[in-house]
Amino acid sequence: MLIHSAAQLVTIAGPPQRGKELGNLKIIPDGAVYIQGEKISAIATSAELCKQYHHAEKINASQKVVLPGFVDPHTHAVWAGDRAAEFELKLEGKTYLEILQAGGGILSTVRATREANLETLIDQTRSRLWRAFRHGSTTIEVKTGYGLETETELRILAAILALDDEGPWDLVPTFLGAHAIAPEFRGDPQGYTNLVCTEMLPALLDWWDKNGRGRPLPYVDVFCETGAFDLAQSQQILIRAKEMGFPLKIHADEFDNLGGARLAASMNAASADHLVTTSDEDITAIGLSDTVAVGLPGTPFGLAQKDYTPAQKILAAGGILALASDLNPGTTWCENLQISIALACRYMNITPAQAIAAATINAAAAVGLADKVGSLEPGKQADLLLLDIPDYRQLGYRYGTNLVDAVIKNGTVFQN
Ligand code: NIG
Ligand code: FE
Repeated sequence: MLIHSAAQLVTIAGPPQRGKELGNLKIIPDGAVYIQGEKISAIATSAELCKQYHHAEKINASQKVVLPGFVDPHTHAVWAGDRAAEFELKLEGKTYLEILQAGGGILSTVRATREANLETLIDQTRSRLWRAFRHGSTTIEVKTGYGLETETELRILAAILALDDEGPWDLVPTFLGAHAIAPEFRGDPQGYTNLVCTEMLPALLDWWDKNGRGRPLPYVDVFCETGAFDLAQSQQILIRAKEMGFPLKIHADEFDNLGGARLAASMNAASADHLVTTSDEDITAIGLSDTVAVGLPGTPFGLAQKDYTPAQKILAAGGILALASDLNPGTTWCENLQISIALACRYMNITPAQAIAAATINAAAAVGLADKVGSLEPGKQADLLLLDIPDYRQLGYRYGTNLVDAVIKNGTVFQN
């Protein structure tokens, strides 16, 4: 299959983009991509490839931008119920952490999720994944974390693997048993931390052995935050996970600066996510590391907060900046990563070019897949978007409507 005559073929060829190098899109005007099976086989100008592959099935992308599929490296897409009533409480002035401490927030989604069987979880998540996919997310990280007990956490994981098998998307699973202190351990965060280390992680490893079907081990993540896991507890969980061979992620500095970003950098975690209140010292540590700094601008927006991830400071420190949606029922229920790009341009002060690289090649690095997805290069997966815009800068500038005309995933076309 030959996609030709793209107004701009945005290749983003090359490795993840560190610091001020972010935003080098390597655009080919009047560009073309030749796809063989599930992989990209050639990238060049339309003149060159149309001559070489004149027998191929053709898609005319004139007036369109062609982009690598988005990688969304941070979602909590599997849950049951909703938190519309809490949204009203927030509008009346209650804070996110107040609602959590009163037994609501994550814990109210935990109650609904524990009651949902596997089929219900799969059904409710499927429609969210399709919305994300139609808006351009072709690879999506999905966390557990609304079980907070071994059985439900593993049921959520089973839902993630079943949906990965079922749909066109690639899902990257993450175990977030340490998302909040389980209600059974109210007032005893250390007790729950110990349970995560001594019971849940071993059960996860055992379950993966039987059900993972040879996939690489999932990420292990922890919510390092006031009211959730403090720095020592987060470290205890991540050290145990690392000893067992799991790759690591962390939720750090979403509300309070506890040192989670620095911890992630020192443990060589794949990513540290949120980073809203991160200190300058911790930004320096992230900048010097290979840990990807993931900004989630939908979250402060969803909570109507004024502070966002200080992207320019992270770039000045040499950090690898990525973007994600954080799709979840509490802080930001939005499956559209284009909105994250639009918010990042306005409130994280980055350009559309930087936001696009952050949501593709750098986001791929945040889930360890930069060698397979995130850019248009021969040998990579044929995951592409045809956008109904003639100039990539309209991404970010325009928002709220879906600019994706078609998604191509592993060489298969999904027309919107
Ligand atoms: O990334 N911070 C923790 N987890 C989510 C929110 C989850 C929820 O409120 O249900 C986040 O913002
Ligand atoms: Fe999150």
